[in-house]
Amino acid sequence: MDNETRSTLWPSLLLDIYTGFQKSQVLFVTTELQLYDLLAIHQNGMTANEIANKKKLNLDATERILDYAAGLKLIKKDFRSESKTVAIYSNYPEIAEVLQSSKPNNMVAAIIHASRTQYPLYQHLMTTIKSGSNTEAYKNAFGFEMTLETFESLYETDNDYSATFLQYMHQLSSITSPGVAKAFDLSPFCEICDLGGGSGALAYALASEYPNVTVTVFDLATAVEAAQKITPDETERHNVKFVAGDFFQDEFPPAGLYTFARILHDWPDEKVHKLLDKTFKSLKSAELIMNETKTGPLQTLRYNVQMMIEMSGRERTETEYRLLLEQHGFVDFKCKFVAGYSSFHAMIAKKP
Ligand SMILES: C[S@@+](CC[C@H](N)C(=O)[O-])C[C@H]1O[C@@H](n2cnc3c(N)ncnc32)[C@H](O)[C@@H]1O
Repeated sequence: MDNETRSTLWPSLLLDIYTGFQKSQVLFVTTELQLYDLLAIHQNGMTANEIANKKKLNLDATERILDYAAGLKLIKKDFRSESKTVAIYSNYPEIAEVLQSSKPNNMVAAIIHASRTQYPLYQHLMTTIKSGSNTEAYKNAFGFEMTLETFESLYETDNDYSATFLQYMHQLSSITSPGVAKAFDLSPFCEICDLGGGSGALAYALASEYPNVTVTVFDLATAVEAAQKITPDETERHNVKFVAGDFFQDEFPPAGLYTFARILHDWPDEKVHKLLDKTFKSLKSAELIMNETKTGPLQTLRYNVQMMIEMSGRERTETEYRLLLEQHGFVDFKCKFVAGYSSFHAMIAKKP
């Protein structure tokens, strides 16, 4: 990029960055209002007045938000008459695929999680940068102190949280799990245990790829309870069972292969060492990977900040993961890119 292009681009790039939160808020509010579900019922569109009445909102404010959302191409704005006096708002079919809660690949829970958890924590980023810990940020944003056992404190604080969070994880995991299940030949294993397996999306993908395998999802009791409302019907449940427990405190269920997906990045090194210590048979792991110079990919750099803000973990490079595992005696470390979502990689290592 030459200097002239850069200097003309910069003001608009900056504008885009510093006003980015405004666009997020329009998405958050319209998703929280279930606007896309409402518009799906009214195929011919709705006026601002009809929407405001239905949702008990202020008409003028509703009109402005709808117009901004239409400007952002989240919804469509048309007119019924030539005079263009009455605007009709409706869904774009391709956007409704991800914003309508009844659609199989919707991202509603991810957006609600960003709105209710990540956004409030980002507002206290300065506190986290100064102290290097998110304890104060959690206190300022939610009124409780974050302990290392975050999940338990979060799950206990808000019953809705576990369901929304697991739904969000389920959406992500449903994209990545089929690729993870195929990344290595796991046919020699009969019993797999997915530690912190959440909704069971990876367990179902493994059971479908290897019909002779039994997969145990091991997660906190609150998560196991919430998962029952998310995961598929009985027909897909065979060969997958859920066991409640704490992977730091309790014995792991017996298995020939232990899998971690989006678990190691949640925790600081001392906790990761504790988990790896307990994983004595085999280990297969799936995480986002940073390049060795930590200059990308951008999504992983974003997660690296998010893990500092939301958990007390970090993203790591392939070398950092290999060294962590080697410290515990694991050999034959392999790492493979899993297509489907960002820089998601499957890793496997063996006990000699
Ligand atoms: C980031 S989510 C990943 C979920 C799932 N592996 C996936 O990729 O969709 C972290 C999971 O670890 C679980 N978890 C957190 N602390 C745990 C603990 N001490 N024992 C067992 N599971 C735990 C959470 O309940 C949650 O389901």
